Amino acid sequence: MRSFADGDGDGVGDIAGLEARIPHLVDLGVDAVWINPWYPSPLADGGYDISDHRAVDPTFGTVADAERLVGALHRAGLRVLLDIVPNHTSSTHPWFRAAVADGPGSASRERFVFRTGRGVHGELPPNNWRSQFGGSAWTRIVEPDGRLGQWYLHLFAPQQPDLNWHHLDVRVDFDATLRFWFDRGVDGFRVDVAHGLFKDSGLRDVEDSRDAAHPHWDREEVHEVYRSWRRVADAYDPPRVFLGEVVTGTPSRTARYVRDDELHMAFNFDFLEAPWRADDLRAAIISTLGSLAEVGAPATWVLSNHDVMRHASRMARDQDLVDGHNLVDLLDLPSDPELGWRRARAAVLLLLGLPGVACVYQGEELGLPEVEDLPADVLLDPSWERSGGTDPGRDGCRVPIPWSGDRTPFGFSQEGVPPPPLPQPSWWRSLTVQAQRCDPSSMLSLYTAALRIRRAHPALGDGDLEWMAEAPPDVVDFRRPPGLRVVVNLGATPVALPDGRPVLASCPLDADGRLPSDAAAWLECDDAPVSDGQVPNEDA
Ligand code: NOJ
Repeated sequence: MRSFADGDGDGVGDIAGLEARIPHLVDLGVDAVWINPWYPSPLADGGYDISDHRAVDPTFGTVADAERLVGALHRAGLRVLLDIVPNHTSSTHPWFRAAVADGPGSASRERFVFRTGRGVHGELPPNNWRSQFGGSAWTRIVEPDGRLGQWYLHLFAPQQPDLNWHHLDVRVDFDATLRFWFDRGVDGFRVDVAHGLFKDSGLRDVEDSRDAAHPHWDREEVHEVYRSWRRVADAYDPPRVFLGEVVTGTPSRTARYVRDDELHMAFNFDFLEAPWRADDLRAAIISTLGSLAEVGAPATWVLSNHDVMRHASRMARDQDLVDGHNLVDLLDLPSDPELGWRRARAAVLLLLGLPGVACVYQGEELGLPEVEDLPADVLLDPSWERSGGTDPGRDGCRVPIPWSGDRTPFGFSQEGVPPPPLPQPSWWRSLTVQAQRCDPSSMLSLYTAALRIRRAHPALGDGDLEWMAEAPPDVVDFRRPPGLRVVVNLGATPVALPDGRPVLASCPLDADGRLPSDAAAWLECDDAPVSDGQVPNEDA
């Protein structure tokens, strides 16, 4: 939300800005919106440090504004998902303030994970767990008597103390949060760190494992929480939904979160993390679909989000050398932006051609690259500080959207108001929504056409996927019955297309009608329904 559109002229995206841009979302053709945390937060981690889950930060608006936005989105035919962050709160949350103030052994400390340190004077952290943002996952507090005392657990930043999910208050409070927003019409939640929440009560040291016995990820106890949340969601009419951010290391462990009485969907990060290589993509798709088939859940595909380097920039690197999907992993590899752009065009036809749910991260429809050279003094991501200035973090994918005009802030806010905290590059003038809308060769036109076809074509969205056995190794080639073929050429040379009518392609075919390297096409083929006007032409 912070980087989408600023409606009140303070340089920060907000509810009014999003509401004013609903027509863009409708034109683009998405059918739901996921809004990152808009709750009161000191912003130690981009709003994922929350001091009150049942309020809206004044920077964005009020709860009344939120309700108005939900109504406006619904009237436009869009559903709305909020973020819920159950693993931790902000250190400014009243519960944590009470826990610090009430001292060791108090009931309020039980809602978090406080422990006495190791060492003669408790001067060492209770175990070897590491924060996701670098450094120890424990911080020692100053007790009310002024002396150094207990340590508390934070798997993320020190300003994000982990909650104790064995405590009844925590469960009751999150149920109240679900109901608070469901009662206001919200259609569901994206669940932050859904594989977190529970910790091994022995707090044993982490050995290098990512299996069911891991002491702080993917523990069995978490499934009962999602079963109970599902009962809350199912009691609404229409039932509300959950989309989990589930990171377990294997598709089969992730699939356990979307069994039919738990969450509805979970992001398939294997696909996002796969290099742009046919084998890797095929393997990610096959293992994801196979695991999900066992539990009867839909796949949820995603190429980019607010936590990873934008894929147009990831794909601009030599894919045999990429190791990781964050700016820090790829910064030193030479980049070919035109190649990244071309691959990003092909990638969206793959993404939207797959069976299940597809998520688009704001700005990818404009082909926005990662901003790799943000000055150090504007960086907000805690990774920058926690890494001692070696990891620039995730700000490069969070730079505000360029909407219109020739000069920054490109319609994100009005001119003359405070500039957005993360500056847009001046050359983004050619990437604005306004510049791309009327250009049939733009990324925006491709996304719009693909989403429109996906909505109308009976083969796309839910359904089956059949691999084409005769496909060359560098070509990802599958059929979506009835009658749609998805062909992605990841090889170095053009490939002949199968028989069929090209419905949409990521770039022009060559003079011999072949699909060039790093390109994708959708074709209507043999068992296609006779076109009855439902599927628009490329120029529709
Ligand atoms: C995942 C969120 O997507 C990310 O932005 C955040 O830093 C962590 N969870 C911690 O809440």
